Amino acid sequence: MSEAIDVASLGEDVPLLEGLRTARAIRRLHPDPVPRELIRKVCEAGTFAPSGGNRQPWLFIAVTEPERRAWVAERYRKAFRAYAVPALEAAKDPAFPDAARRNMKAALHLADHLHEAPVHLFVAGRTRRGEEQAQALFPAVQNILLACRAVGLGASLTTVHRTFGSEVDAWLGLSEKQPTCALLPIGWPRGRFGRPPRRSVDECLHFERFRA
Ligand SMILES: Cc1cc2nc3c(=O)[nH]c(=O)nc-3n(C[C@H](O)[C@H](O)[C@H](O)COP(=O)(O)O)c2cc1C
Repeated sequence: MSEAIDVASLGEDVPLLEGLRTARAIRRLHPDPVPRELIRKVCEAGTFAPSGGNRQPWLFIAVTEPERRAWVAERYRKAFRAYAVPALEAAKDPAFPDAARRNMKAALHLADHLHEAPVHLFVAGRTRRGEEQAQALFPAVQNILLACRAVGLGASLTTVHRTFGSEVDAWLGLSEKQPTCALLPIGWPRGRFGRPPRRSVDECLHFERFRA
């Protein structure tokens, strides 16, 4: 899959709205490597995000070496399992919604197989006056997720690594002023892209004022 790819043309023909409607969390990934040029391409999409004062605070760190991915994965698995305990308990109830159970299963699968994801892409950013800049970084994160969809890479947005955030930031060589806000495990998808389950826009959209 990763051989003889024309990186320049890959994904350029996916209609924007179709792409974003089918850019769901893809957490089952092949371990095959992703060419660096393709990682560069999806990160370049990140650089086109808006940011306050066009300060462009983002940094992208792609961890690809197997031992380094194992370091992240070991900590992520423990953190995710601890975080998921209440949800796993709740999922034992037969009334627990099927879609939520499937989502939990996929998130658990990712936690247990994170070391196999060929790219652990961390998004980090400078802080202004010591403030967290997550709000400034998430537009870039979403652009990267959409670019992954366009070029056919599976990806998902995760934040559980923040429970060992200071440790991972120092390990990545980042100062306290440049914390990571997201970890995107990226690789070739095992499944297919498709429309995710979402509430209808008609439940969310109001004109002029909110009406319950
Ligand atoms: C702020 C934020 C944090 C998230 N953190 C995690 C995470 O730590 N692990 C994970 O597997 N998914 C995480 N997700 C992904 C969501 O679970 C996913 O977007 C949601 O279930 C919808 O998935 P779908 O697009 O496949 O329907 C996060 C999403 C957001 C927006």
